[in-house]
Amino acid sequence: MAMAPAPEGFREMLALVYGLPGQLGAGIATARSATLGKPGRFDNVVIAGMGGSGIGGKIARDLLAGECPLPILSCQDYGIPAAVTGRTLFIAVSHSGNTEETLSAYCQAHRRRCRIVAITSGGELASLAGKNGHPVVNVPGGMLPRTALGYLLSPLLVVLGRLGVCLSYESELKRAATLMRNRTGKWHAQAGTIARALNLGLPVVYSTSRLLDAVADRWRGQLNENAKVLCHTNVLPELDHNEIVGIGGPGATCGRAVIIALTDRETHPRNRLRLEHTLSITRGGYLRAVTVESEGKGKLERILSLVMLGDLVSVELARLRGVNPMAIERIDRLKVRMAGAKGG
Ligand code: F6R
Repeated sequence: MAMAPAPEGFREMLALVYGLPGQLGAGIATARSATLGKPGRFDNVVIAGMGGSGIGGKIARDLLAGECPLPILSCQDYGIPAAVTGRTLFIAVSHSGNTEETLSAYCQAHRRRCRIVAITSGGELASLAGKNGHPVVNVPGGMLPRTALGYLLSPLLVVLGRLGVCLSYESELKRAATLMRNRTGKWHAQAGTIARALNLGLPVVYSTSRLLDAVADRWRGQLNENAKVLCHTNVLPELDHNEIVGIGGPGATCGRAVIIALTDRETHPRNRLRLEHTLSITRGGYLRAVTVESEGKGKLERILSLVMLGDLVSVELARLRGVNPMAIERIDRLKVRMAGAKGG
């Protein structure tokens, strides 16, 4: 059977996903040349950012959880946690620089006299940071934020390394970029198979290791924005204490769940066993289950291998559904309404 013609935006988005490894390298250079000041001693690190600009902070949080003694929190709201003080390193990430939640969090962090760095392509965030004397790492503009993950994530990790929060991740970023370049073709083929399975039902993405929690969020966001579908995520082992009972209900909708389990070599052997038993006990409550294992040696490579696979799945699902993966008309409409609305 001949394949339907690719929808508008498909080729463009696919090229952007293929461009992710190149962005990682470019992002390192950008952050290296930024004037940041001396490394500091911090009590904690807070990374603020929404949507496509927030995911890098969550990836950094998961990546560093096992090695960095400082708590790293991701902040995705107007307010900031009480733990944010003058001894906090606060990094505000907004691709456009105009996201109201991130700007609000930035202003509060400024009032609490945090050490602040902004990562942005411009907008209000760049002007406020410039006015307040906070370093700005400038990333290329004119892109959809979710397609700029490499430009946003590399600087974030380089900034954390340069300010003494963690060891340098530059070599790992480069290794991840090489792995991605070498395996994209293989992952693309795998993505096509997964997308066909997802096209039958509701995507449900389970993370089985804390290293992959942000990856599950990335899959959800990309499936939402690129493929225009609802997607549910949860984590093992927690879901075995509640969601396992709900799988399959109500039948008309949840019986059509297609479970994607993300696994990694750090997945606890008991969680692998849990996954097996959970899928067996709930059989009949979902349409299909697919397990995908991360690839690569280092943690960052493994995280980014599954990020790229998920991005490719979202674009392939957009093609199957005949929707434009570049368009996010509802987000744009909502931002316009919020900007024009009083209140709050
Ligand atoms: C758009 C996208 C959105 C934005 C979010 C925040 O591609 O992914 O999730 O990232 O609305 O906007 P920025 O990134 O400009 O702060």
